[in-house]
Amino acid sequence: MHEDTKIVRGLDEERFHKTDAQTNKSINAHRLPIYQTSTFIFDSLEEAYGAFTGEEHHHIYTRVSNPNALYLGKKVALLEGAEAGVAFNSGMAAIATTLLTLLKPGDRMVSSKPVYGGTGELFAYLQEHLGIRVDVLGPEEFYDALKAGGYRVAYVETPGNPTLTVYDIELVSNLAHENGAVVVVDNTFATPFHQKPIRWGADIVLHSTTKYLNGHGDTIGGVVVGSEEFVGELLHTTKMFGTLMQPFNAWLTARGIRTLAVRMRKHSENAMRVARFLESRPEVVEVYYPGLESFPYHHIAKKQMEKGYSGMVSFVLDGTRENLKRFITSLRIFHFAVSLGDTDSLATSPALTTHALSPTTDFPANLVRLSVGLEDAEDLIADLESALKRAFSTSGVAGR
Ligand SMILES: Cc1ncc(COP(=O)(O)O)c(C=O)c1O
Repeated sequence: MHEDTKIVRGLDEERFHKTDAQTNKSINAHRLPIYQTSTFIFDSLEEAYGAFTGEEHHHIYTRVSNPNALYLGKKVALLEGAEAGVAFNSGMAAIATTLLTLLKPGDRMVSSKPVYGGTGELFAYLQEHLGIRVDVLGPEEFYDALKAGGYRVAYVETPGNPTLTVYDIELVSNLAHENGAVVVVDNTFATPFHQKPIRWGADIVLHSTTKYLNGHGDTIGGVVVGSEEFVGELLHTTKMFGTLMQPFNAWLTARGIRTLAVRMRKHSENAMRVARFLESRPEVVEVYYPGLESFPYHHIAKKQMEKGYSGMVSFVLDGTRENLKRFITSLRIFHFAVSLGDTDSLATSPALTTHALSPTTDFPANLVRLSVGLEDAEDLIADLESALKRAFSTSGVAGR
């Protein structure tokens, strides 16, 4: 099956087929229904005992498992090329549950830099409260540290939020496996349409589905995929922490995924045009986009990212915080909001928002992060152009 067909039709066989109790006729729904239920009825004591001891596959209770959350996990596993998967209430729930399944006090973990601000805060928490040492390192130091060994987990967010720094997943996986570490990749920015970390050797892949996988900016969620064995362990932790995704959000996210291929093509196309436009502007000091030949990590992105470079573009605005403020508040089509991967274009200042409390923050204060949406690229470029002009206009009046 080709990738586009798999995205739309993969797991088709898992829709719903049941005999209707009232009419005794078959119901063969085209879509998986929403199992909006807290609990599931057992037919016998034996069945209940089998479900609780894990000898039988039977849903018990929606904190423990639910058809929609498991379907979504399985769908992302199919697209990532993993054996199994499970969906979570948020990207952070996915990351926290994964790390608490893998690590114990005294363990060491090495992480790429930068990572999403919330992930950076979690690392600090793990260090302070659980005595898990987390070394957050730039690419060269990261590869050297892995070679030296001693790590239980190698955690990589690539492209990284917000500087789009790209780590070589194949190199990380080889070094980690030679030195006894498990490789976890946050694939939120790229999605499996553009990048399949397991193909390059990663063990576990996770996402904030809030972003491109759901794609419509109307749910919060996460997903983790990996081996059957690991996902089994993860489900045990999930049950205790209560982090499983709720049925309606899982259903909406699975609906969103069906249009992933068409959306990602357009996000990437628009982002490339926006990045090239920004490169040509005198008000812009530097543009970060993995698709630009001038980007220092372009050669790695070219190797491991397929069919394009996704929709995230960051750039450093010249001038002061005042110019940044004027720029952001002058945008009309781009909304000033955090999050990304929405149909609508969004812009934010990570230093003053998403990464303001992250201990691992070190990027230019005037960095602007754009999530380039699905609007017409000409309109997006016109919006950026007029906001850049206003940001530096000597009349000084800008904003709404
Ligand atoms: C790369 C990345 N991973 C994880 C998260 C956390 O996801 P969520 O907000 O769904 O908890 C985010 C949020 O912005 C992110 O950008």
